[in-house]
Amino acid sequence: MTMSETPSTQRSLQVALGDRSYPIHIGSGLLGDPTWLSPYLAGRQVLIVTNEAVAPLYLERLRHGLPNEAEVRELVLPDGEATKTLACVSRIWDALLEAGFNRRCTLVALGGGVIGDMVGFAAACYQRGVAFIQVPTTLLSQVDSSVGGKTGVNHPLGKNMVGAFWQPRAVLIDTDTLKTLPAAEFSAGLAEVIKYGLIRDAKFLAWLEAEMAALRNLEPEALAWAIERSCQLKADIVAADETEQGVRALLNLGHTFGHAIEAHQGYGNWLHGEAVGVGMLMAAELSCRLGWLSADEVERSAAIIASAGLPLKAPVGMGAEDFLSRMRLDKKNVDDRLRLVLLETLGKAVVYDEAPMPLLQELLERFPRS
Ligand code: NAD
Ligand code: GLY
Repeated sequence: MTMSETPSTQRSLQVALGDRSYPIHIGSGLLGDPTWLSPYLAGRQVLIVTNEAVAPLYLERLRHGLPNEAEVRELVLPDGEATKTLACVSRIWDALLEAGFNRRCTLVALGGGVIGDMVGFAAACYQRGVAFIQVPTTLLSQVDSSVGGKTGVNHPLGKNMVGAFWQPRAVLIDTDTLKTLPAAEFSAGLAEVIKYGLIRDAKFLAWLEAEMAALRNLEPEALAWAIERSCQLKADIVAADETEQGVRALLNLGHTFGHAIEAHQGYGNWLHGEAVGVGMLMAAELSCRLGWLSADEVERSAAIIASAGLPLKAPVGMGAEDFLSRMRLDKKNVDDRLRLVLLETLGKAVVYDEAPMPLLQELLERFPRS
């Protein structure tokens, strides 16, 4: 795959789920252009949900993208992973009920993965299910969380432990929004982009290695291709296994370790993508201890994660038992078996049904901390 094969910056893909199929539109200037939002509204009633950081940047622009006849309400929630709670979702239901919105209303999630996950969950439950549209504004939400219908909130004992599968009507990705995203958040999104290369697409991984600097400089063509390829890989997996009975679990590479880091550190103290980056490296190391990856391939994994501006070390003070106690709560586990996504080779992930405990223990004790 070369840059000359990369497509123009305006692209549309489809998540193929029968009569619940939906498009992902990717491009510059989508926000504020009525062409994009209007076709996906269920009726006149629209609730835009965003947060205090995103509202001053994009709420006004999004409002211009709604038809004049729409009855529009807005809800601005506080910002941050720590707000991804049932209490915040309840505020969305309060707003819907206070507005007297019925089953033909549409919720619009304007923000990153936190807003998208909460709004999707609110939509899944309100009057047993109403329409919602994802307008993701972080790289992570554009390449991952807005696609595929996983919605929900955190519980003090575990991340994303309460939720539902509920697909949006459309995903509208305006790449211009990335211009205001802090660099650390952009790097966090790159962790999920790298994940697709590691689990499914060695050529894409090689392209990312070559184009990382262009991506971090927000070069439009490189950005559009990275988002499109990531969304395509995710859309294919979701179409094959919507409710994670099989192949979708591969999207959790690094997440079992990463979720343990996030929960142990307190939600919001480590960015999700940062924790996933370290988690992917831990998965690569464990794959190496199993004799699957070579030391060079682990080095290559570490190098691309580092080139995205992501940390390579686990938090200091987090012991092996701190990892294990959180990892035992992972949703992938079956009965008492701890399941992990590991790498057979770069570009091919597999679900390992019962973690190799002595090797895992050793890894958790020896993995570098900072
Ligand atoms: P986030 O939603 O907290 O956004 C990161 C920060 O960037 C926030 O402060 C936000 O207000 C701010 N922000 C958003 N857009 C901005 C913009 N354009 N300019 C400036 N600031 C902006 O975090 P995230 O990384 O987008 O998402 C992480 C969440 O996504 C986690 O809760 C994770 O569990 C979830 N997630 C869900 C799925 C899924 O399949 N549903 C997949 C991956 C991650
Ligand atoms: N981010 C994992 C999934 O959507 O399945």
